[in-house]
Amino acid sequence: MKKLFDIGFSLLLVMGVALGMASCSSDKGEKNFFSVGKNTFLLNGQPFVIKAAEIHYPRIPEPYWEHRILSCKALGMNTICLYVFWNLHEQQPGKFDFTGNNDIARFCRLAQKHGMYVIVRPGPYVCAEWEMGGLPWWLLKKQDVQLRTQDPYYMERVGIFMDEVGRQLADLQITRGGNIIMVQVENEYGSYGIDKPYVSAIRDMVRKAGFTDVPLFQCDWSSNFTNNALDDLLWTVNFGTGANVEEQFRKLKELRPETPLMCSEFWSGWFDHWGRKHETRDAATMVSGIKDMLDRNISFSLYMTHGGTTFGWWGGANNPAYSAMCSSYDYDAPISEAGWTTPKYFQLRDLLKQYLPDSVALPEPPAPFPVIEIPAITDWQVAPLFDNLPEPKLCDDIRPMEMFNQGWGTILYRTVLDEEVSGVLHLDEVHDWAQVFADGKLLGRLDRRHGEFTLPLKSPLKKGTQLDILVEAMGRVNFDKSIHDRKGITDKVEVVSGEKTLELNGWSVYNLPPFYEFVSRKDYQPGKALQAPAYYRATFRLDKTGDTFLDMQTWGKGMVWVNGHAMGRFWEIGPQQTLFMPGCWLKEGENEIIVLDLKGPSEAKVEGVRKPILDMLREKAPETHRKDGQNLNLSAETPVCGGSFKQGNGWQEVVFDTPVRGRYFCLSALSNYDGTNIAAVAELDVLGLDGKPVSREHWKICYADSEETRSGNRTADKVFDLQESTFWQTVDNTAYPHQVVIDLGKEYQVTGFRMLPRAEAGAPGLIKDYKIYVKASDFKY
Ligand code: GLA
Ligand code: CA
Repeated sequence: MKKLFDIGFSLLLVMGVALGMASCSSDKGEKNFFSVGKNTFLLNGQPFVIKAAEIHYPRIPEPYWEHRILSCKALGMNTICLYVFWNLHEQQPGKFDFTGNNDIARFCRLAQKHGMYVIVRPGPYVCAEWEMGGLPWWLLKKQDVQLRTQDPYYMERVGIFMDEVGRQLADLQITRGGNIIMVQVENEYGSYGIDKPYVSAIRDMVRKAGFTDVPLFQCDWSSNFTNNALDDLLWTVNFGTGANVEEQFRKLKELRPETPLMCSEFWSGWFDHWGRKHETRDAATMVSGIKDMLDRNISFSLYMTHGGTTFGWWGGANNPAYSAMCSSYDYDAPISEAGWTTPKYFQLRDLLKQYLPDSVALPEPPAPFPVIEIPAITDWQVAPLFDNLPEPKLCDDIRPMEMFNQGWGTILYRTVLDEEVSGVLHLDEVHDWAQVFADGKLLGRLDRRHGEFTLPLKSPLKKGTQLDILVEAMGRVNFDKSIHDRKGITDKVEVVSGEKTLELNGWSVYNLPPFYEFVSRKDYQPGKALQAPAYYRATFRLDKTGDTFLDMQTWGKGMVWVNGHAMGRFWEIGPQQTLFMPGCWLKEGENEIIVLDLKGPSEAKVEGVRKPILDMLREKAPETHRKDGQNLNLSAETPVCGGSFKQGNGWQEVVFDTPVRGRYFCLSALSNYDGTNIAAVAELDVLGLDGKPVSREHWKICYADSEETRSGNRTADKVFDLQESTFWQTVDNTAYPHQVVIDLGKEYQVTGFRMLPRAEAGAPGLIKDYKIYVKASDFKY
């Protein structure tokens, strides 16, 4: 013990020296190096602990980059960690843009100017709640493209992109006078597939692009990092606030006892979806996780230290169930969306101060930018969408948006019925939000989030009726296989009446992209708010500029542009009701605002307010899955198996003695290990005949006896959201047994299941004894 302490102590001394150097050693011209040593990183041969702040250049207006970097430095960080967002730089194949807000080299040099190192994560896939996880939509123009595999077309494009990144950044490696100390290969590939040859090929492309002088690493979850782990890369793990640090690194330490440890994404908070409760994570818990790591010499990157804003159309989505990201990426991070320091910031700063050498003092955080109010803008000119259509493209059968060379925005499919139709309209599938009109009259709206792909026709539609289907694309899915997410209507439109199915053909297709050049060139006329899709344009004067939040509470659903900048999406359902409007994009004198509202506002008015509203959920979605008075009755049911889960973290698999055919799966938890009332499950898979997990695409929670929604979003659907850090948790005052019932969407030969307990410290709520029920029809309540 004494010996260990001594080593630890001298290591700390050396570390102190290294830390002191960290703030001043990266001046241009000096020859430095960064490497992987025995149980530590080495900066110029000296032990170094990475304290990285993840921030994303496109989520911060370029004039504010330096402010945010300084805020990270004043927090006590020594490194900036960033993704490179491929689809931002190559919006059309072969046309690269690394200027202005896309100038990644400048971003890195600004960090260097302030003595900060940089970790680059060039993807090609980045996830990040970003449209398609950073992949360009035009890859989907190839019908059978297999993203994130060795598909030749995909790989060719990745190679071209990676070389461009190399041209921008390779010379900024620390050995060449820059500040880049590490580069990541792919991103959490273990959560996507098992394909070492693919990951190796990406590694080779990263090297070929010129990243030869610094350690390359791959990041994954502790549960799956071995799936694709390459011998010659450094392995790091990602986990969030509340996680059991020791447990997260256990396996890694076993396999590589001498590797330096790093949590390459320590999640400070979480992201928000439209129509779901605002997410937060406790500051004290976050800080104690970081303390835990620093006390063990573990490096970390705090994802996000400052989340910022996902401007324009760049927000992604998760699936299943499809749910698009809000525009705010505040993330409950220590530095707020608008760049303000928060109580979380100062709690963390107090901690990080303790890990500096005595001689080093943290600079004060830079002052926040001034905030202004903008009086209500009410004087609009209006351009109804249907009166302002571009030239159509003709096509016989329905095709997704990509096939018309459109990446984002809204698309209108129009046809004139050549016979009378009645029954149910099937839209296969709506990606993502459709309004159906007959001769201009709204028949209904379909929302992919709720799996709404059919519309019963209240009365027959006559021959000659003009049928309009206006589909708004929300973010492309940024996680798992559903990143192959084509927009518009993906396949076909049919009318089903009894036995008869009629496919509708002969479409005129109108592309309505979200570009300023497109939305500004409309025939704007003075007019009133419409309960129909329309563009609104107004000007407003400012004596002085400043940051503000555009209050969109009275508007329906759409997007906002100010002075040519696409600010982001709004949607009345919330939880986000305001859009962050950086003062650097406003002007003294006249400013212009354009709003596209696909539904129509209750009142056409925009005000600039001083504080964001990010937690006003107005959709009446059931928060929990148990209806009043509902009680699952299992008394007449026979379990297909029963047993006890093992203690500890990690997946546990149970195989039934014989397969059972069924569609409704019930996990009944009878007791737990920690003596509390709580049951918690992070992920659940049901195994099919081949022993592999069945698709969770159409899963629905039918019932959960108890769900914790007071202190977080612990609803039962978290058992199949593909995120290991989110979980179903029962309320602490509700006693065992606890049950969850899942509708698998169709019948399967179920051969078993897999369960991942909540991966947090002490694994609270770990279920001990359980019984499983599988039935063809739903249970009795
Ligand atoms: C993963 C990804 C990140 C981000 C976070 C959640 O760790 O690697 O890009 O999506 O989840 O915010
Ligand atoms: Ca989960």
